[in-house]
Amino acid sequence: METLRMVPPAFGNFKKALKDIEYGGYLILKGWQILWTSPMTHMDNSIFPEPSKFDPSRFENQSSIPPYSFIAFGGGPRICPGYEFARLETLVTIHYLVTQFTWKLCADNSFSRDPTPTPTQGLPIKLVPRKLR
Ligand code: HEM
Repeated sequence: METLRMVPPAFGNFKKALKDIEYGGYLILKGWQILWTSPMTHMDNSIFPEPSKFDPSRFENQSSIPPYSFIAFGGGPRICPGYEFARLETLVTIHYLVTQFTWKLCADNSFSRDPTPTPTQGLPIKLVPRKLR
């Protein structure tokens, strides 16, 4: 979750205002298109203190995270329906990567946003099955 907070794969999405709303001193009229972006919320230090610090422990107490603040998968009625599946497949992959292999990143870990995060040198890794060592 901390990785998804700091580097959300989906930058955001477009929504349409269903009625006139005021937000942050701005009037948004019914029918206007709105672009929400997850990094704006994920990097808000009033929600996530020291937002640039990688700190997985901030998710240990889920009740300390205000609703609609972790939005890597969106939120509300149109939240990503692949949410649980994506989390499960990521956990299974990481589990086997860590328990069955040793691995080494063969490039630096820089990435650019275009707008989705993309490793600038690709992501070459060297994998060695643990039982062959
Ligand atoms: C790490 C992986 C994933 C991330 C970060 C992600 C993120 C998102 C985000 C931000 C949205 C927009 C939500 C909104 O507008 O409020 C979305 C929508 C959607 N996602 Fe994902 N997603 C992921 C994986 C998946 C997977 C694995 C599936 C399908 C198996 C999936 C299917 C969908 C669909 C169908 C929508 C459109 C939902 C709608 O408009 O009602 N996603 N996703």
